[in-house]
Amino acid sequence: MLVLGLETSCDETSAALVRDGVQVLSNVIASQAALHARYGGVVPEAASRMHVERMLYVLQDALQQADCTLPDVDAIAVTNRPGLLGALLVGVSAAKALAQTLHKPLVGVHHLEGHIYSAFLAEPQLQTRFPLLALVVSGGHTMLLRMEGHGEYALLGTTRDDAAGEAFDKGARLMGLPYPGGPQIARIAAAETPNSRLFPRSWMGDTLDFSFSGVKTALRQYIQRSGGGIPLPLLAAEYQEAIVDMLVNTTERALQRTGIQTLCLVGGVAANQRLQQKMQNMASARGVHTVTPQTLLCTDNAAMIAAAGTFTLQRKGSDPLSMDTFAAQNLVTKPANNTYRSERASI
Ligand code: KG4
Ligand code: ZN
Repeated sequence: MLVLGLETSCDETSAALVRDGVQVLSNVIASQAALHARYGGVVPEAASRMHVERMLYVLQDALQQADCTLPDVDAIAVTNRPGLLGALLVGVSAAKALAQTLHKPLVGVHHLEGHIYSAFLAEPQLQTRFPLLALVVSGGHTMLLRMEGHGEYALLGTTRDDAAGEAFDKGARLMGLPYPGGPQIARIAAAETPNSRLFPRSWMGDTLDFSFSGVKTALRQYIQRSGGGIPLPLLAAEYQEAIVDMLVNTTERALQRTGIQTLCLVGGVAANQRLQQKMQNMASARGVHTVTPQTLLCTDNAAMIAAAGTFTLQRKGSDPLSMDTFAAQNLVTKPANNTYRSERASI
């Protein structure tokens, strides 16, 4: 089955062709980072407009690179939730127009489910390794999920305030680095060895939740008080290390509690080399297999949307052309009674 994926939820315009949910034939991504950098963050209206300008070119490139034409496509998958509403509508409108004119099925994909399925693109054999533990770390979300099978998720932990990507982006801004901050911090921190534990690591008690607002405030206070302090690359490395430690620590406790043997590290922040390295070390010491997609599949892209869409189509069928678009929608909500705590076996 050949699926065309479209992704426009934030500031990347992307189209991809994926065969059978696992084989990427093309994955074209037009980033708007340069446009938004001058404002220090994504400007929603400007993002929508640029998606409109670029969508057709990106689609044409994706078809060309995959060496196929629109009639070859069996279905169209598009991110329809969550994201910037105006931006999402561009991709959804394009997908609906294609589905209607080509008489092909349409399927709406949850953006975070797309991120999870980037791991299946990296390692198709994951389908035989359920249950999986997924750490989803993006610009707007930080979540630990237990995945029992295709489309079956249980939320184990989430952030109480900022997402990990947000902590990177806001921290970078405090350090005077341009948007998007995560890759900038990673770049200047790469040659440094953090060792002072300059910044606090939050501890959310018995839960598997995260909190990143404290480390951001600590950074702001450090910059205000020290009036310079340590060199910027080392400061970036210390800050990155605090975020990485919190992610690795809580993920380790989740592995301990659930006994899950396969870990997927996905979302834009998963592109962070230091996070990958420390997560790998922790997981391999526990005998846990880790899957981290290559950078282009970690950050926003349409191949992951096509992959998730393929499995959704097989499981639930297509969506009507009246399919809606949602700025906010949880992939899964945390059980009110915190039943995930009953998995506390070995801690
Ligand atoms: O998944 P993503 O591309 O978009 C959302 O769904 O939000 O994630 C974007 C986030 C941004 O916060 C960006 O700063 C962060 O991922 N990011 C990184 C790195 N590359 C992207 N954070 C740390 N290190 C990186 N190398
Ligand atoms: Zn994303």
